[in-house]
Amino acid sequence: MENKPTFYITTPIYYPSDKLHIGHTYCTVATDAFARYKRLRGYDVMFLTGTDEHGQKIEEKAKAAGITPKEFVDRIVEGEGGILDLWKLMNISNDRFIRTTDDYHVQSIQRIFKKMYDKGDIYKGSYKGKYCTPCESFWTESQLVNGMCPDCGRPVHDAEEEAYFFRLSKYAKPVQELLETGDFLEPASRVNEMINNFIKPGLEDLCVSRTSFSWGVPVDFDPGHVVYVWVDALSNYITALGYMNDRYDDYKKYWPAVHIVGKEIVRFHSIIWPAMLMSLGEPMPKKVYGHGWLVIDGGKMSKSKGNVVDPYVLADKFGVDALRFFLLRTFPFGSDGNFSNELLISTINTDLANDLGNLVSRTTAMVEKYFGGKLPAEREADALDDELVSMIKAAPEKYAAQMDAFQPHLALEEIFKLIQRANKYIDETAPWILAKDEAKKARLATVMYNLLEALRVSLVMLTPFIPESCAKAFDQIGAGEALRTWDAACSYGALPADVEVHKGETLFPRIDAAKMLEELEQAEKAAKGPQIKVNPVLPDVSIDEFAKCDMRVCKVLSCEAVKKSEKLLKFQLDDGSGTPRQILSGIHKFYEPEDLVGKTVVAILNLPPRKMMGQMSNGMLLSAVREVDGKEELHLIMLDDSVPAGAQLC
Ligand code: MSP
Repeated sequence: MENKPTFYITTPIYYPSDKLHIGHTYCTVATDAFARYKRLRGYDVMFLTGTDEHGQKIEEKAKAAGITPKEFVDRIVEGEGGILDLWKLMNISNDRFIRTTDDYHVQSIQRIFKKMYDKGDIYKGSYKGKYCTPCESFWTESQLVNGMCPDCGRPVHDAEEEAYFFRLSKYAKPVQELLETGDFLEPASRVNEMINNFIKPGLEDLCVSRTSFSWGVPVDFDPGHVVYVWVDALSNYITALGYMNDRYDDYKKYWPAVHIVGKEIVRFHSIIWPAMLMSLGEPMPKKVYGHGWLVIDGGKMSKSKGNVVDPYVLADKFGVDALRFFLLRTFPFGSDGNFSNELLISTINTDLANDLGNLVSRTTAMVEKYFGGKLPAEREADALDDELVSMIKAAPEKYAAQMDAFQPHLALEEIFKLIQRANKYIDETAPWILAKDEAKKARLATVMYNLLEALRVSLVMLTPFIPESCAKAFDQIGAGEALRTWDAACSYGALPADVEVHKGETLFPRIDAAKMLEELEQAEKAAKGPQIKVNPVLPDVSIDEFAKCDMRVCKVLSCEAVKKSEKLLKFQLDDGSGTPRQILSGIHKFYEPEDLVGKTVVAILNLPPRKMMGQMSNGMLLSAVREVDGKEELHLIMLDDSVPAGAQLC
């Protein structure tokens, strides 16, 4: 059997702390397109993705949800609508999926940690930092917000804990040399950023263990310590191949890798990870490519900016291929891109519905109409063909150069130049006029053939981006499996002269933008459920201060609207004292007076009396208020009628 060259490519491993959004999907879809491209080029590809499941944040989230950390991550990774489902939906062709909670990975991490320790590259020291006691978290000075804990906003204090350190400083020079060599880190602009911002100011040793939480890989020779998540996470790229474990035996075959990562984690991949590998005596990664971020209005992805970012909703509304295509066609891979639903719709309409979709449907429709679906073998060339034919011949090489340079948007640009040229060729050759003249049949067949070849070659190149749609389009233009390969794309004329086409379904229907935007908004609302605004907890009060509030159960004796007021209701209440108490409350928007008579409510009685609309109010009724989807809601606190008037709240 022929020995194929190998190619190993990875995505970052995602934090299963929340649902993934379109930004994460962007990273995985891009890596998938590169992996599929390499397979097309004849490589034996190993494409790895996975999840980064340890750490304090996940531990806390699980605690808040009342489940164990493992149950929590299992839900997000393997549960319905989770990460595995998302990659399946998005047609991601990963060969392996690693979870950092997998036993074999945990075992490798312990061995990797020990190996670096035995070498003297990991040593015990003490970690100094700003500590937030309620959050049980250490922070660096620069992480603090106005000198307070960035998580809870409370004061922090200087603290010290025993910890292991990795001698990152020892590797500063070789890491800098690595960064400066050739194309290890791309885009090139990120190299200077790493050197100037991190290496030049001096690399400090890195704290690589924690004792303040336990959801991590235990340091087996020093219980109480867990391995710092980034050491755990970065190593996934080799443990997944079987490095220091018996689960797999692929390390020699596939390492080193190309790592596709987002720009904010370039530092970990291009400085810390190489230093770790140097310590382990292993080869450096082949490349780290730091792509840009998808942003909304220049800022981070967030749920509140009127754009749908849930990949499930987007894939459902637009189709998986259209979504994959949009992500890689629109944004230069190395830079940030402004995501919007409008842009998504216009890209699909312009490129997929108009340019590509029309070319497929017009060409197959013409071959059916003029030739009953099967081209005659006779040909008659014309100078009008030359430009298109030479573009078809040149396209694969140009496309490959861009794909090899991790520039998917430019690779797609090459394909669309060809597709647009083919559409222009239809206008230039005017097949509908040729069709009127029996003597022009051979010429008409030549025009059709050139269009089919332009399509076939484009579809081969598009396959890594929109695999399912390409398979359908190949069927429509009569290109069997053997004509879908890279070699076939590089040979103009491979399609049989008497090819038979089969006009099929419209591949990319045009989208009505206004209607779709409205639908998206509804779908996002339904997917999110009601958005309840939750205010932060107020600063502490002492129990003595709290006890000063006299809150009691009252029965509503009577209730009526206050004249000339839209809001106010006037209550006479039995507060247990024997004398009715009058309280005014601005809740008419939420309740009709007659519905409240006889109810058991709660009031605070010792607020200073207050005059409203000329009437006295001696206290205040307690309610639960919240803001749902931007609208205020109010629920008067009502108790079981068996609770007697005058009962005190404490
Ligand atoms: N767990 C770490 C990675 C460890 S790799 C050894 C992590 N996880 S993450 O879930 O926060 O992010 C994973 C990837 O998603 C990163 O590459 C990050 O850049 C990418 N993205 C997250 N939001 C993004 C956008 N809005 N746009 C593009 N990519 C973004 O970091």
